[in-house]
Amino acid sequence: MQTSIKTLAIISLLTMMSQTSLAADSANGKKLHNESCLACHSSLMKGKPDTIYTRSDRQVNSLDGLQKQVNRCQNSVGANWFDDQIQDVVEYLNTTFYKTK
Ligand code: HEC
Repeated sequence: MQTSIKTLAIISLLTMMSQTSLAADSANGKKLHNESCLACHSSLMKGKPDTIYTRSDRQVNSLDGLQKQVNRCQNSVGANWFDDQIQDVVEYLNTTFYKTK
């Protein structure tokens, strides 16, 4: 009896954990971004990759636009991210640089 209660508790804990992982994960987004996106932006922006997101004439100015641009760039570099990975990167870029709603 005791054992099955423990098992149930563990299962519901695991379920909760897998649900929270569905929320966008900015730290994971940063990792993905730095692996696949940083080098090219860095050479474009003469060694200052972040300025592609913060320059005054930047192209993206809405959350929708950011989603589209992240998707476009990850397609063109063949990163093959899943939707939740794209959302993690959008979350990272938005909370760190764009701050759009
Ligand atoms: C091979 C080069 C290259 C790689 C790799 C790359 N990008 Fe880009 N990215 C560009 C170029 C070029 C632009 C447009 C710059 C311009 O218009 O001045 C851009 C622009 C952007 C912008 C819009 C910046 C703005 O003006 O607001 C975002 C967002 C972006 N990239 C995200 C990503 C993400 C996410 C990745 C990784 C999957 C990525 N990029 C990888 C070349 C690249």
